Amino acid sequence: MDKKYFIKTYGCQMNFYDSNRLRKLLNKEGFFEVNSIEDSDIIILNTCSVRKHAEDRAFSFLSSIKSIKNNKIFCVIGCTPSIYKDKIFEKLDFVDIICGPNSYKKFVSTLKNYSGGKTSIFEEDENLLNEVNETEIKEKISSFVTITKGCENFCSYCVVPYARGKLVSKPENVIIDEIKILIDKGVKEIFLIGQNVNEYGKDIGENFVELLYKIHEIEGILRIGFLTSHPKDISNELINSFSELPKLYKHLHLPLQSGSNKILNLMNRKYTVERYLEIIEMVREKCPGISITSDIIVGFPYEEEIDFEETYKIVEKIKFDDLYVFKYSPRPLTKASKFPDNVPKEEKEKRHKIILNLQDKISLLRNKEMEGKIDEIFIRKKSYKIKNAYIGRTLNNKPVIIENVNVKEGEIIKVEIKKGERHYLYGILI
Ligand code: SAH
Ligand code: SF4
Ligand code: F3S
Repeated sequence: MDKKYFIKTYGCQMNFYDSNRLRKLLNKEGFFEVNSIEDSDIIILNTCSVRKHAEDRAFSFLSSIKSIKNNKIFCVIGCTPSIYKDKIFEKLDFVDIICGPNSYKKFVSTLKNYSGGKTSIFEEDENLLNEVNETEIKEKISSFVTITKGCENFCSYCVVPYARGKLVSKPENVIIDEIKILIDKGVKEIFLIGQNVNEYGKDIGENFVELLYKIHEIEGILRIGFLTSHPKDISNELINSFSELPKLYKHLHLPLQSGSNKILNLMNRKYTVERYLEIIEMVREKCPGISITSDIIVGFPYEEEIDFEETYKIVEKIKFDDLYVFKYSPRPLTKASKFPDNVPKEEKEKRHKIILNLQDKISLLRNKEMEGKIDEIFIRKKSYKIKNAYIGRTLNNKPVIIENVNVKEGEIIKVEIKKGERHYLYGILI
């Protein structure tokens, strides 16, 4: 059998990390990646079900390539099969293999011996988090490292606990070994990822902040970031670490979801707007200049005009550096899917637009505030669009374009920020 695979990834950082891990597992077994569907023997879609839109994109992509099937093996992996299981075969009868996100070793051995027929793989691999994962490094100097799998917070709208299972933390020594291997290969920037990273260690008697301090000591690491954090698990130690750890990005992504306590309660978020504001105040006091970003869902069941106004006001008050705004999408298995989806589509769209417009103005303002500042920029990559320009990250994790410089990816250079626009800063080498 030929062994050329094509892989396409949807969803969050966890899926992108998993795809890179799967690449490594496949390549080790003699499979190799191709960038064209036509040339491939195996087509793999790593899918997301967090909103219906994400799911639909993968399904419609699959349907659009159905006609080229011939003898190709079609595989749907990740969160979507984890939720729908064999129903995927009913919906898409040309799919051959489905596999959940915790079974990729079994997936590779199935592919090796595959001789046809519909196959479902959901039994978890042994030692999933107890051994160092090797990943194919796509961006040479930067890498994600998953530190937890799953989530058991059961926010009422969210499918992740059903798709990814219980919270399980990777032991500290495994994470550190994994990072050391990456650093040896030239990686200089590490993003620790998990659905709720600050809950790390709860199940194995370890602690996220202690882990951060240990990672900070690893020789050769230049920048460390992490996401996502949950407001209910923010500790004073974590807040202090921003000013105590010079290599840590001064950036906190802290999803708020709604500015109404009534809605937060229905969402089962386990904090109030008042507590959220208190955290923001503490973080900004301890670490001036930190950037704070967030997620908002508009149109959640029972969100009335007055609740939405509260969200608007809080977004206006906090002035996030950036914000992801989502229209509520009912998800199978979740508690909220049993609530009436009673905010009309047009209203959701209207609220979505209103918050986005507000945030555009705030983000521009925030980026303009950076003008004139001198910052240490971590160079990520060459710009594709602008000649002789590089894209880097400020210490508070904002993208900066620096023109006419002679630098290398992975270097840190001193830059004066000359201009702040909505999505980018522009700077010059000093
Ligand atoms: N673990 C993270 C992120 C989860 S998914 C956290 O706890 O915040 C990323 C974002 O998608 C969420 O923060 C939320 O804003 C949004 N989201 C999740 N489920 C959704 C749904 N059913 N409809 C609309 N947005 C949703
Ligand atoms: Fe979903 Fe909530 Fe877990 Fe985040 S914390 S993954 S929103 S259940
Ligand atoms: Fe999507 Fe699964 Fe991530 S549902 S957001 S790919 S954990």
